[in-house]
Amino acid sequence: MFKRVSQIICAGGIAVLASMGGMAPAMAAGAGGDIVEHDWTFDGPFGFFDKASLQRGFQVYREVCASCHGLEYIAFRNFSDLGYSEAEIKAIAAEYDVTDGPNEEGEMFTRAAIPADRVPSPYANENAARAFNGGAYPPDLSLITKARPNGANYLYSLLVGYKDAPQGKEVPDGMYYNTAYSGNLIAMPQPLYGDDIELAGDGDTSIEALAEDLVAFLAWAAEPEMESRKRTGIAVMLFLFVMCFVSYGSMRYIWADIKKK
Ligand code: HEC
Repeated sequence: MFKRVSQIICAGGIAVLASMGGMAPAMAAGAGGDIVEHDWTFDGPFGFFDKASLQRGFQVYREVCASCHGLEYIAFRNFSDLGYSEAEIKAIAAEYDVTDGPNEEGEMFTRAAIPADRVPSPYANENAARAFNGGAYPPDLSLITKARPNGANYLYSLLVGYKDAPQGKEVPDGMYYNTAYSGNLIAMPQPLYGDDIELAGDGDTSIEALAEDLVAFLAWAAEPEMESRKRTGIAVMLFLFVMCFVSYGSMRYIWADIKKK
């Protein structure tokens, strides 16, 4: 009986270990384009987010991406994870307008956002977004690193993947050549050029460095609880490990007398 229990516990521990091994970044290509495999601090069972990088990424999002893409699953107060104080969050929220209501006259109205509001889309609705972008829809970015295969590497590759089209490749008006995008023609103009943003603390403003910070920020947005999930995983593994030895030891102890006979 004890032997059986210790076998089950040990097998459980090994299964958990094996599944953690499987958490290493997938090497598969993304949705059909060229994908750069990059090392991320948030990869693997000990992965973590670098707060300074998240703050830089958020700045790039605000200054570049927010004019076309919303972040509707993130509330301003969630930015406390990035290390901002309550007062800073209030000030950031106040830069955005949100629609509220209806008021006593039954009308919707616009007011400055507060920390409990979510980061609004810059467009009133999908049709307005399409009308503004030549028919293409800039998706909400809250879950984008989860919504694409090999999400972090794909997003990084997309942001650094704007190149001159090879000779003979037709690029229609309103489309741009991108090596990571499936089919290589995307309706999003190149958003990052590098050196056009001033980062606090003299941060590196090459396209690659900006893309790296932005991807870290969007990976956080897609899974703000990632660090605590991984910490729980490690605690569970340690517990299973200890239980494995305890149950094996008690099995030996209980059977010792019987074996002697
Ligand atoms: C001028 C508006 C504009 C800006 C600024 C902009 N985008 Fe886009 N984005 C678009 C449009 C339009 C699409 C849809 C493209 C398509 O369907 O071909 C898109 C699509 C995307 C996609 C989805 C690609 C896919 O696989 O479907 C991602 C990811 C993305 N943008 C990220 C960003 C990031 C990150 C930034 C900031 C650095 C940014 N965008 C800035 C307009 C914009």
